[in-house]
Amino acid sequence: MSDTRYLAQGPRTAIRPFTRGDADEFTARARESAALHRPWLFPPATPEAFAAYAGVLIEDPTKAGFLVCERDGAGAIAGFVTINNIVAGAFRCGALGYGAFAHAAGRGLMGEGLELVLDHAFGLLALHRLEANVQPDNAGSIALARRAGFRLEGYSPDFLHIDGAWRDHERWAITAEMR
Ligand SMILES: CC(C)(COP(=O)(O)OP(=O)(O)OC[C@H]1O[C@@H](n2cnc3c(N)ncnc32)[C@H](O)[C@@H]1OP(=O)(O)O)[C@@H](O)C(=O)NCCC(=O)NCCS
Repeated sequence: MSDTRYLAQGPRTAIRPFTRGDADEFTARARESAALHRPWLFPPATPEAFAAYAGVLIEDPTKAGFLVCERDGAGAIAGFVTINNIVAGAFRCGALGYGAFAHAAGRGLMGEGLELVLDHAFGLLALHRLEANVQPDNAGSIALARRAGFRLEGYSPDFLHIDGAWRDHERWAITAEMR
């Protein structure tokens, strides 16, 4: 596949930046995936919410967003990985978010897509460290981070306000040296 939209390609997935034109597919998949995502994740499910979310990912240099697309067929969006709170200088760190879409979940596509994002982040983006802050009961997310080589650094009480309350999180992280 020589599709220039993609930043990187693996055997079954390819990653590309969010575009405003992804609104219809993304929001339809997000609505289909609510049972998978709740109570951990609340991706945009309406055109208005997507416009705000994607606009920030596209324009804000402290964020980067990647769609994980299937290489089979028309390149359907299997899920997404975001990097938030990107800090340069001596830190060169960002905080990951990710979600699979229900039709693609559990097939190893997110694992492969996350590997592509890590290569991109430690390569072209020149980051040194990525965090994944995960609620302790979120077994699927912890499994994904662990499989990608993240290590458990610690425990952060009342770390993020999600679904109406401050939630404790485990802090998983990976550095460039660990790749
Ligand atoms: C976390 C999440 C993104 C993981 O996505 P996923 O689609 O399940 O990820 P993968 O398919 O890559 O991996 C899941 C399983 O598929 C397995 N798998 C199936 N087919 C596979 C294949 N061909 N190749 C590799 N792995 C495969 C993996 O081994 C893994 O199994 P395990 O966890 O039991 O060891 C997804 O569960 C999700 O969206 N959760 C809700 C949102 C969320 O929690 N986001 C993070 C907030 S911190």
